[in-house]
Amino acid sequence: MPAPLEALIADYPAWWIDFLGEHNHVGGSDTTAWLMERAQLEAGVRMLDCGAFVGAAARTAVRRYGVEAFANDINTDFLRAGRAMADGASVHWFTADTRRLPFRDGTFASVWCLDSDTPPRELSRVAAARATLCLCSEVPVDGRGGVEAFIEEWAASGWSLTAHRQLSNDATQLWRRVEAELVRRRPHFEERYSKRGYLAQLDLIASMVRAYETGEQGHGLFVFARSL
Ligand SMILES: C[S@@+](CC[C@H](N)C(=O)[O-])C[C@H]1O[C@@H](n2cnc3c(N)ncnc32)[C@H](O)[C@@H]1O
Repeated sequence: MPAPLEALIADYPAWWIDFLGEHNHVGGSDTTAWLMERAQLEAGVRMLDCGAFVGAAARTAVRRYGVEAFANDINTDFLRAGRAMADGASVHWFTADTRRLPFRDGTFASVWCLDSDTPPRELSRVAAARATLCLCSEVPVDGRGGVEAFIEEWAASGWSLTAHRQLSNDATQLWRRVEAELVRRRPHFEERYSKRGYLAQLDLIASMVRAYETGEQGHGLFVFARSL
């Protein structure tokens, strides 16, 4: 594991950092690669990685395609660690809330948001004409209209779906594994998160497992293209 990530893990006791790691979303580096193959990235185009944590997608896109990558997160420590990791010096890092991005309209040829806050209006605002939009996202799969409602919401902002991969089963299995491991190694995690922190994190994971098992919540990868 890269040293800057180890230092973050020491400073931030949180299950999602412990269990998801550098590519901090469902499916990890495999789902990053799946999206990247479909994102139409090219050398020199501007790509934005929103809620980037340590910017795994941005740094990978720099390395594989030579894009000009930008990454934002609300937490400066995460960005500082990303800058110190492989290819981090080639990324432009911004401490900013994805709901109010410090970029002009139409700046980016590819906008990414992986398991983070995903505000349709702001992501659409900073995307250029014919941009791609890559999401790894929780989606409603119950009576709230299902995945179709999610796709229609983006269509209303001018985005057409070009690729979709179901991740609901992967996410359910991942959350089950996290819950089981938290229980199995309770003394370790109680020491790491504190007793109250441990129970709070276990509660959160248990409610996620329930929501996914009952089909209330789902997960997926989405690539959209902008026609406007
Ligand atoms: C589960 S991690 C995903 C990180 C990264 N996208 C990845 O896939 O590796 C969620 C990240 O989103 C960031 N975040 C949450 N809400 C945000 C917001 N409104 N604006 C910017 N960053 C946000 C958190 O600080 C955290 O680093």
